[in-house]
Amino acid sequence: MRTTEQTQVGAVNHRLSDKAARFTESVIREMTRLAIAHKAVNLSQGFPDFPAPAEIKRAAQEAIAADINQYAITWGAKPFRDAIATKFQATQGVAVDPEREITVCCGSTEAMISSMLAIVNPGDEVVVFEPFYENYGPDAILSGATPRFVKLRPPDWEFDPQKLAAAFGPATKAIILNTPNNPTGKVFTRAELETIRDLCIRWNAYAITDEIYEHMLYDGAEHISMASIDGMRDRTITINALSKTYSVTGWRVGWAIASPEVTSAIRKVHDFMTVGAAAPLQQAGAAALQFPKEYYDALAREYYDRRARLLEILTKAGFRCFQPRGAYYIMTDISAFGFADDVAFAEYLVQEIGVAAVPGSSFYNDPADGKNHLRFTFCKTEKTFQAAAERLAKLKPASIR
Ligand SMILES: Cc1ncc(COP(=O)(O)O)c(C=O)c1O
Repeated sequence: MRTTEQTQVGAVNHRLSDKAARFTESVIREMTRLAIAHKAVNLSQGFPDFPAPAEIKRAAQEAIAADINQYAITWGAKPFRDAIATKFQATQGVAVDPEREITVCCGSTEAMISSMLAIVNPGDEVVVFEPFYENYGPDAILSGATPRFVKLRPPDWEFDPQKLAAAFGPATKAIILNTPNNPTGKVFTRAELETIRDLCIRWNAYAITDEIYEHMLYDGAEHISMASIDGMRDRTITINALSKTYSVTGWRVGWAIASPEVTSAIRKVHDFMTVGAAAPLQQAGAAALQFPKEYYDALAREYYDRRARLLEILTKAGFRCFQPRGAYYIMTDISAFGFADDVAFAEYLVQEIGVAAVPGSSFYNDPADGKNHLRFTFCKTEKTFQAAAERLAKLKPASIR
């Protein structure tokens, strides 16, 4: 038996979980902390520095005033689930039953981990495209999945269908897909989704698709939900949230749409993990999801202009930019600056130049694969862009430094 004394002396590591030891804190969110510490312009973490729409804020205020202040039904307030189902049908043509196929969670972050915990058993493999949104790594560890990575290759971030096929096998439980994609801005085409579909069917695997940037599309790109692809409705877990579409990342309201069987498992995990998402904010979400088409058109137009602005600033400062077709990030190549790696450059940038960005390595399993990349976000105001442009003007490529 372990005594108190034995527990206290040199036992720190034995009292933490192996799982928690296998991943670090978020690099993206750490960059925001560094940006604050160095008073840098923060182009790292993906949160808008402009106001959320007045209507959604008013709806939240009214919900609190109307005393919608107690637990909502654990899997989501009915008006909100109804609104989610109506919007999914209207935008993607997929009919879902709000009573049996939707779980409202604390952001898409919780929707993703609850979904993984609901379907993954030890020994299961999960296929992940890389570069990937950094949460998917810890999600795999926490749920006990073994990730199998498949590269998206610049400049167009295409995947090699043969390599994808080789990543699937009898142990594959799911593929994680993020379209429009963070960090690359790739928007998966119908043909690509069909290639993935064929593999999911062949190996009896799920697709978990993170679609939180569905309305940020440029240059004619079209968002296609995996659930709308023939044969995929009941194999797909569609993850989404209020966070990005309505500029309310701090509200922590998201959802998972899945078949009744999968939903019942997700709901159990979700219930015991968080009980539920904020009740008044779900009420406001129900109002937001009924915004007219013009809202989404205006959102895409504004982000188109912001993308152009940041592309101009970064290109002028010497970055090679991969122009995104969706989402609100620009992945760059930093080779011209001659730094040892992405982390060294990101540190220099935040400390000496005063601009925060995310090191590319945080989006790869092997940090070496991201060492020539840095990711910037453009969900920012002109004032922020102006400040970033002034600071980045001090930056010099290696050849003239
Ligand atoms: C691809 C992707 N998924 C999920 C999230 C987190 O979303 P939420 O705020 O809804 O948890 C982000 C945030 O940047 C993201 O980029």
